[in-house]
Amino acid sequence: MPLQNQADIKAATSILKSKRQTANAEPIGIFDSGVGGLSITQCIEQQLPHENLLYVADTLYAPYGEKSTEFIQQRVNDIAQWFIARNAKAIVVACNTATVNAIDQLRKNISIPVIGVEPAIKPATSISKNKKIAILVTKATAENKRFLALVAQYSHNSDVTIQPCPGLVELIEQDKKNSPECKLMLLSYLQPLLVKGVDTIVLGCTHYPLVKNLINEICGDSIVVMETAQPVTEQLKRQLVLHQLINPLNNIGETTFHSSKCCLKQQALFSHILQRTLRLNIYP
Ligand code: DGL
Repeated sequence: MPLQNQADIKAATSILKSKRQTANAEPIGIFDSGVGGLSITQCIEQQLPHENLLYVADTLYAPYGEKSTEFIQQRVNDIAQWFIARNAKAIVVACNTATVNAIDQLRKNISIPVIGVEPAIKPATSISKNKKIAILVTKATAENKRFLALVAQYSHNSDVTIQPCPGLVELIEQDKKNSPECKLMLLSYLQPLLVKGVDTIVLGCTHYPLVKNLINEICGDSIVVMETAQPVTEQLKRQLVLHQLINPLNNIGETTFHSSKCCLKQQALFSHILQRTLRLNIYP
């Protein structure tokens, strides 16, 4: 129906405005194979406090780091479709393994903004004094072409060691991050890097910030340990602004948590990591 007069235009503008406000109050989907994405979620909660967040931990299929590209892509597509069915306005792939294995195909298939995690190799090469850097990753990331190309791009002036850490994600998922077993495992991965003389370590898996204290304890103060929660949050903010998706409402957003292995033990693990009581829901 054509707009007749000033009043019609005003009414139509107000409907459009309220539609946009409703769309902008829709959640941001965040996912990981397990609890790794929680460090990124915490950072998003702090810096975008008005946004509603929907977190999925695909714990039943963790670790992604030991799975094939095809398998990871299938999981990522399923989770993305679940977010879209819940009107998500953007998706954060809070997992390095899923980012390098599946983000390109995901972006081709969906139209909402998709933000991935890139390991901080570039900033590490400028921070490192002796230009000896190590990057801790899962097996699937270490073998991934996209990741290897990224390392090659930034390692022209630095000696970059890729250190896969099989078994570490499993221990973190079992809430054994403070166990002697975990310390021994980390020692076995870090010792050769220390012998090599690296002065900067990049955490290339979102689970690893959860053992950052232990890494610092083993490596000492002189080694810089870099993670990615802050740059991912900044990139998310830029994308929300660019697509006019920032939630204009002033109330504090809500985060809901879901897991493909939903049980009280998992709920306790989430609470322990986030240091607050929460309810874990079943995914899908
Ligand atoms: N948190 C993940 C990552 O950033 C996944 C680890 C895994 O499931 O193996 O790579």
